[in-house]
Amino acid sequence: CGIVGVVGNPQTTSILINGLKKLEYRGYDSAGIYVTDEQGHDILKKRVGKIANLQQALDTNDQGLAGIGQTRWATHGKPTEANAHPHFSEDKRFYIVHNGVITNFNELKQKYLSDVHFASDTDTEVIVQLIAYFAQQDNSSTLTALQKTLSLLNGSYAFALMDRQEPDKLWVAKNKSPLLIGLGDHFNVVCSDAMAMLDQTHKYLEIHDGEIGVISKEQVQILTLDGQAVQRDPYTVAMDATDISKGTYDSYMSKEIDEQPAVLRRIAKEYYRDQQPVISPDLIAEMKQADRIYIVAAGTSYHAGLVGQELFEELANVPAEVKLASEFGHHLGKLSQRPFFIFLTQSGETADSRQVLVQTKALKYPSLTVTNVANSTLARESDYALLLHAGPEIAVASTKAYTAQIAVQAILAQALGQALNYQPKHPIDVLNQLGLAANAIQTVIDQKDKLEKLTEDYFDKHDRAFFIGRGNGYMVALEAALKLKEVSYIHAEGFAAGELKHGTIALIENQTPVVAFILEEATAAHTRGNVKEVVSRGAHTLTIAKKSLAQSDDTIVLDDLNELLMPLVAIIPGQLFAYFAAKHRGNDVDQPRNLAKSVTVE
Ligand code: G6P
Repeated sequence: CGIVGVVGNPQTTSILINGLKKLEYRGYDSAGIYVTDEQGHDILKKRVGKIANLQQALDTNDQGLAGIGQTRWATHGKPTEANAHPHFSEDKRFYIVHNGVITNFNELKQKYLSDVHFASDTDTEVIVQLIAYFAQQDNSSTLTALQKTLSLLNGSYAFALMDRQEPDKLWVAKNKSPLLIGLGDHFNVVCSDAMAMLDQTHKYLEIHDGEIGVISKEQVQILTLDGQAVQRDPYTVAMDATDISKGTYDSYMSKEIDEQPAVLRRIAKEYYRDQQPVISPDLIAEMKQADRIYIVAAGTSYHAGLVGQELFEELANVPAEVKLASEFGHHLGKLSQRPFFIFLTQSGETADSRQVLVQTKALKYPSLTVTNVANSTLARESDYALLLHAGPEIAVASTKAYTAQIAVQAILAQALGQALNYQPKHPIDVLNQLGLAANAIQTVIDQKDKLEKLTEDYFDKHDRAFFIGRGNGYMVALEAALKLKEVSYIHAEGFAAGELKHGTIALIENQTPVVAFILEEATAAHTRGNVKEVVSRGAHTLTIAKKSLAQSDDTIVLDDLNELLMPLVAIIPGQLFAYFAAKHRGNDVDQPRNLAKSVTVE
């Protein structure tokens, strides 16, 4: 979910709506705003579905000087108008927008609020009803009622609260979920992500877990839970509002696919001086101590981690393993003596990854976040951060962040290997490879017409598809299948080619689409054997091979890169199949159903 707030600006309604549109990547099941002026006129509007529905429901009277809004990704309670935020207290005095999950909401409801009528099924409503309860009970100030409420909440939250009796203020608080205060010119804003408010300001103030912000037109106060004032300097967000425009593209996904060659060139520029990788010496010194690297990630980032694992082992000779954040956090298992943790996360906000970081920090293990978002929660909270430099990724399905994550891991692995004086058996000139990869990707992108035609032949007529490969080909198969599932809703699976015969080959029927990646010399013949096995059972196969291993009947031939880096180029046809299949089906390419780009709940 994403939240926004404004105080002290007559354009409040449009700033909220524009902000919510920028946050739509965080969820788009339903949305709502509460806006008030200082004369007691206020409005509450909510709609199911995209922000556009909410915008249509507004009329010229729906203006004010302060307000809050939210775009929701449903966790507790269906995406209905009643469950959409803002939620309000029974006496309609307090209004709240919230991102996160309150885990003890049932207990709190039973203990304090058994006489209160609830208007929704959400955990959020408990927060606002509790605040009203404490405000009423002792006739306390809003701040005191808020402090009492916060001391009782378990779980994750970032919220913005308004009090009808003090319409010139916003109260905000956070625990685990992201929240920033933006400093405008005679007005102030709050948001889950600076991207939402870049049109308004580039100056932001962080608020940390356990703190409260009290914000008015001219003033921002940050307090600890027990009311001590906190001094903190604002920082400037360098991102440009034009970075987040779609330009002439029909979707962010297609723009971001096309940006990949430029992203790899930018990464090469950012991370090399005089042909040598430039990584903070402190980070390298810390990593040199490690006897094992744990890469923690979710979704597409996990698939990029699979490629990274091999790079660290091959280029630095350090054992590495990749862990799914949502599993690892609950099953840390037996760690090595001197582990080093790499959190791979495009957004830097994924709650599953963050909960692992919280644990590894408590155990005093060193950590690095590799992320696309500077100042994101994981970037701030880990010991070190490396940026992907991919530019804002807006489409929910991740494309350029995947290739950027592989590239940055390769550079880091190379730098670590050099620092350890390790001589790889098959050294890789990573800088040179990134240039070659940029060109190789461009060559695939230039064949869009062919890929669109292949999408028609292979995917448009079917509701399932399989991707197979071995080694790096298997890793790419997993990511290609995920892309197709996410945006086209075709049931796709990635399989280790050699495993097919152990069970999944039973799924092959006449004309079942099977895409095979042939990217490694050592396993090429085996994978081709597996292709024959499915062909003889009627599959409609499409082979993607690297040039040096290609045969005359391969469907797509990729320029050669070092084998370990082949995923950089091999994923591009997979991304384009997903894009075209979604487009042909009339799906919303950038905001596929049920998903959110940054999932800030566990
Ligand atoms: C969400 C997105 C995925 C993404 C995953 C991890 O589920 O829909 O596209 O791969 O989160 O996100 P992260 O920001 O941590 O890389």
